[in-house]
Amino acid sequence: MEKREQWGSRTGFVLAAIGSAVGLGNIWRYPYIAYENGGGAFIIPYLFALLTAGIAILTLEYAIGHRMRGSAPYSFFRLSTKMEWLGWWQTLISFVIMTYYVVVVSWALSFAYFSFGLQWGRDTEGFMLDQFLKFSGASENIWRVGGINWSILVTVTLIWGLTFLVLYKGIKGGIEKANKILLPFLAILLIVITIRGITLPGAEVGLNALLEPNWQRLTDPQVWIHAYGQIFFSLSIGFGIMITYASYLPKRSDLSNNAFIVAFANSSVEFLAAIAVFGALGFLAVSQGGSVENVVQSGIVLAFVVFPQIINQLPAFNDIFGLCFFGSLFIAGLTSLISIAEVCVAAVQDKFRLTRKQAVSWIIGFGYLISLIYTTYAGLGYLDIVDRFINNYGIVLAGFVEIVVLSWIFKLSVYRDHVNLVSDIQIRYWWDACLKVITPLVLLVMTGYNLYQEFFVSPYGDGAYTTGQLITFGWSVSIAVLLLGFLLQRIRWKDEGRTEK
Ligand code: ALA
Repeated sequence: MEKREQWGSRTGFVLAAIGSAVGLGNIWRYPYIAYENGGGAFIIPYLFALLTAGIAILTLEYAIGHRMRGSAPYSFFRLSTKMEWLGWWQTLISFVIMTYYVVVVSWALSFAYFSFGLQWGRDTEGFMLDQFLKFSGASENIWRVGGINWSILVTVTLIWGLTFLVLYKGIKGGIEKANKILLPFLAILLIVITIRGITLPGAEVGLNALLEPNWQRLTDPQVWIHAYGQIFFSLSIGFGIMITYASYLPKRSDLSNNAFIVAFANSSVEFLAAIAVFGALGFLAVSQGGSVENVVQSGIVLAFVVFPQIINQLPAFNDIFGLCFFGSLFIAGLTSLISIAEVCVAAVQDKFRLTRKQAVSWIIGFGYLISLIYTTYAGLGYLDIVDRFINNYGIVLAGFVEIVVLSWIFKLSVYRDHVNLVSDIQIRYWWDACLKVITPLVLLVMTGYNLYQEFFVSPYGDGAYTTGQLITFGWSVSIAVLLLGFLLQRIRWKDEGRTEK
């Protein structure tokens, strides 16, 4: 019987968990979300979501994984044989995310290379959409698949290869080691871009735009929805990652303290990234004689179109700054990708009693095939829809069901006691209140509001996508992961999937 692997040290676990949390979400998503949702005032819904949902669920997921000592499906199976589907649902959400996440990480790697000699030229939008992604032909109608974009496939293959190697080497020799090497680099790169960002001429204009509080916005439910959505994605909760990582902890391991460390480290990176990005945006706005409003963009465009513009304008060391920015995006993304893939590896390993090497080969092989969809000319469109739906109706809903099931159907106090038995920081009734009442209520309202918007106000994309496309890439994928979860529950455990506990 294969013995269950373990982290080599507490630091190893904490670094891996931070590596998972700090990802594309911190660098490409957070700065824009904060700016759009009240600027300085966003700190209130953000901190509220961090405390009531983020830290509370993170601690719960650590407790589940640590107590059950299994992958997400196995942990829920041990809770009750009828609950296994919930673990599969989370695992399949991770699978879907991993297949497009890898593609964005590959773009970051390509752009790190393009930084040498500023290969994107002056028209950075044309470069990203036409030359690099070849998306223009498909932008009107994403059914025009347009074939595989070979240059993207090459880097995607490389990233899959790296992920394969790390996972193949296991928890201590692979994931822990990779994070120990990569995270210090990431910290240095982030500090360099932050210092550069805030010392650029005009940076204060960007920082003012980011930090100026718009209290009025706090009355808009969307702002609170964005805060919760950001916390889920950014802290890697609701998709089985933290359950899986905690299952490799030795029996006597602190849980609540680790949850606080990981959550605050993740938020610190978010704040740093926002300062760096908006300092740089202020510089761009001033150098173009416009305002920040004119240069700020969301998500992918911000990272891959606006940032190259900023890099073009820098007074000196343009290549180096580009390398630092895209290098940090690449490292942050890679360490998160590894954790997302590990959820799937652990799940099939437990269920079908595969060796790690077999499980890694299956998951990476299958994931690679699916990710080909996003390497087509229309891939950006598919990625955009899948990302939106799997976040809103996957991660957040799975997180909602998880806390409702654990606090209303089963006994939450079991997990509170478990955490308190092994941890320095004792958790009290505030934790129960968050998980039983506050967070489920917010998530329920949030999902209702999202559905209402989707069906009655304006479907996602503001007309960029047809109903058929939203059904195919959005609704079908979100529903399929849930249904497949139930189906997988019906398959018998091979020898109960048990490794020696
Ligand atoms: N937590 C990871 C991120 O922020 C998934 O990108």
